[in-house]
Amino acid sequence: MATVEAGINVALVKYWGKRDAVLNLPAVGSVSLTLDRPGTRTTVRFDPAVSADRFVLDEVEADAERVTAVLDDVRARAGVSWRAEVFSANTVPTAAGLASSASGFAALGLAAWAALGLPADDPALVDVVRRGSGSAPRSLLGGLVELDRETGGVRPLLAPEAWDVRLVIAVTALGPKDVGSRAGMAASAETSPYFPAWVASHAADMAEARRAIDARDLPALGAVMEHSTLKMHACMLATVPPLFYWRPATLAGIETVRALRRDGVGAWFTCDAGPHVKVLCAAGDAPRVAAALAATEGVRGVDVARPGPGARVVGPC
Ligand code: PMV
Repeated sequence: MATVEAGINVALVKYWGKRDAVLNLPAVGSVSLTLDRPGTRTTVRFDPAVSADRFVLDEVEADAERVTAVLDDVRARAGVSWRAEVFSANTVPTAAGLASSASGFAALGLAAWAALGLPADDPALVDVVRRGSGSAPRSLLGGLVELDRETGGVRPLLAPEAWDVRLVIAVTALGPKDVGSRAGMAASAETSPYFPAWVASHAADMAEARRAIDARDLPALGAVMEHSTLKMHACMLATVPPLFYWRPATLAGIETVRALRRDGVGAWFTCDAGPHVKVLCAAGDAPRVAAALAATEGVRGVDVARPGPGARVVGPC
């Protein structure tokens, strides 16, 4: 038995599309920031007396199919066949585009791994977690993280305390998104005429983000983040049928960020496969950015997050 807490992560250079659906390897690399919010807390308890996996999410019995796939991987590596009970709690709305699948699968994979006594530094853990969700390995590490396109592995770029930035999250709509990222990515790769251009232009964004992070150059990192975000959404919009993840409040939030910048405030936006607006800024600018977003039409709530730690075992239960 083991319990793990994992933070959500938000991509600055975005991931959209797979080059291997079975291993869940990405078509592009990505750079992310893990946040200090305890996105998911998960307890895994293996029990030889139990006949099927059980998954309880936010106190409700849930479909265990994707959980079982991850547990099967861990069981195979540990050479056991015991079934497990999994209790998981999210602090962000499930499937609302706030990246709860990333913290969820990072927490599940590491908890199962630790419960069966497998070594935490074994790189195979990343493969197990990635098969659950493509962005989940990034939540295994804290701060700024790179996920490599070729290996599917992750490496730390900057520890959480090394750069005092904030990510201001403007929640614009509640409820699950229309099309999940797995189905959306497959549709984009198949039908979006912009998908090949998205993949071809990605390496340059990765290089620019690495350079900007090394130099602690926030305007440069913000600019490449917005460029990557807008290319991803252009690719989504050109998918057949189109993937619209934005709502009027999303555009209003983006406009707020652009207006802040015209006023000399360093703030840059990103959006994922959902309607929320996430804004990168220096710690000192966060109160002004948060106030401007809170006053934006359609914004239902604002949260100011800091860089946070990677997934960690917090106890047996
Ligand atoms: O890991 P998934 O399948 O939920 O995909 C995440 C995709 C985006 O959030 C849109 C971008 C990213 O890199 O996190």
